[in-house]
Amino acid sequence: MKYMKENEIINLLNSQDIAINKIVLSDRAQGEYDKIIVRPVVIKGVKNYQLESFKTNKVFHKNVKENELFNNVPLMDFKQMFVETVGKNLIFSASKNGFKLKEQANEIKDLANSSHNKTKQYLINEGDNVPVMVELGIFTKENKIVRTMYDKFKQINRFIEIIDDVYKTQKLNEITILDFGCGKSYLTFLVYHYFVNIKKIKAKIIGYDIKSDVVNNCNILAKKYGYTGLEFILSDVSKDKLFEGKIDMVISLHACDTATDYALNFAIQNNVKNIFSVPCCQHEVNLSIKPAGEYDILIKDGLFKERFSSLLTDAIRTQILRAMGYSTDVIEFVGFEHSPKNIMLRATKTKDKNLQLLKDIEALKNKYKFNQTLFDIVTKKQTKL
Ligand SMILES: C[S@@+](CC[C@H](N)C(=O)[O-])C[C@H]1O[C@@H](n2cnc3c(N)ncnc32)[C@H](O)[C@@H]1O
Repeated sequence: MKYMKENEIINLLNSQDIAINKIVLSDRAQGEYDKIIVRPVVIKGVKNYQLESFKTNKVFHKNVKENELFNNVPLMDFKQMFVETVGKNLIFSASKNGFKLKEQANEIKDLANSSHNKTKQYLINEGDNVPVMVELGIFTKENKIVRTMYDKFKQINRFIEIIDDVYKTQKLNEITILDFGCGKSYLTFLVYHYFVNIKKIKAKIIGYDIKSDVVNNCNILAKKYGYTGLEFILSDVSKDKLFEGKIDMVISLHACDTATDYALNFAIQNNVKNIFSVPCCQHEVNLSIKPAGEYDILIKDGLFKERFSSLLTDAIRTQILRAMGYSTDVIEFVGFEHSPKNIMLRATKTKDKNLQLLKDIEALKNKYKFNQTLFDIVTKKQTKL
């Protein structure tokens, strides 16, 4: 067993034969942060490190140059250091003789220097000149990410990356997308920017929201930036008549509660090929579910009930999409630290309906007596299960 002092650890980590993929500092001894995670990032072709520092429920991000890493990371503030390097993990634990080092072999490849990482950045990057991002408050005037908007920036980039993966396989020359519950429309604007200004394809994108102030403001911005194919319509998606015509994608990011159900239902009824939906505020099942059997221990305590109901809601939606002929997967589209509502339902219409898949939901619903809007609408429209 080896014991090391701070300068020895820094010398070791700076040595040529160590390629750091990740450092996690935890178990605070002193200082202001509860945890710090360090990862290599390539910015404009140059290796930097990104520091993600956690303080109570806030997260701070900072990029530092490779040679300045250890001037910015307070190693001694923490009792535990986990360093993932190429080929081995180094685990340092504080003791009265210094830091005890334990090594573990691993099969990790060099992320920071792989060609993948050099080219793989966000689709929209800090420093890109996208004036609407400044107007929306995501970028500062110097095109830097506004700190408090980092999570939104990350969510949107990831959302667009996921759409882009599907778009590439379907080789569309033009694209029509409807965004349900678009709100301030960070996503809607950037999806438009991505397809029209970066991919150079014709796009028609409509954002729907029930709030007139956000809809008016978004239309003003779309006009100001010459986004002619982008429009915002004041609608209640649960009852208003929406766009009729060929639609390639329905998207929704955190559309409240049953607004997500109406988005999914619209896509199903209109045979929309692709759906990307990140649900939020799943209150409906939580408010209506009754104790009736083996899941009762999950609905006894408020917190469990809320989380269980929310998962049940999204599992039901997923099963309905599959029943309606959509190949559906459920992915964590960003890390939990960037949004606790981080589950995306990604669905593509590939096959015929299989209504048998609705039977399990019906049985659960009959037993636990909850309401679930998508199930109710879809089953009303089906003659027989
Ligand atoms: C949490 S915000 C998300 C906004 C945006 N998609 C984002 O991720 O930043 C949810 C939005 O859904 C809208 N909404 C809720 N119910 C709706 C309905 N029935 N019809 C249209 N919009 C609705 C709200 O007005 C709100 O702007």
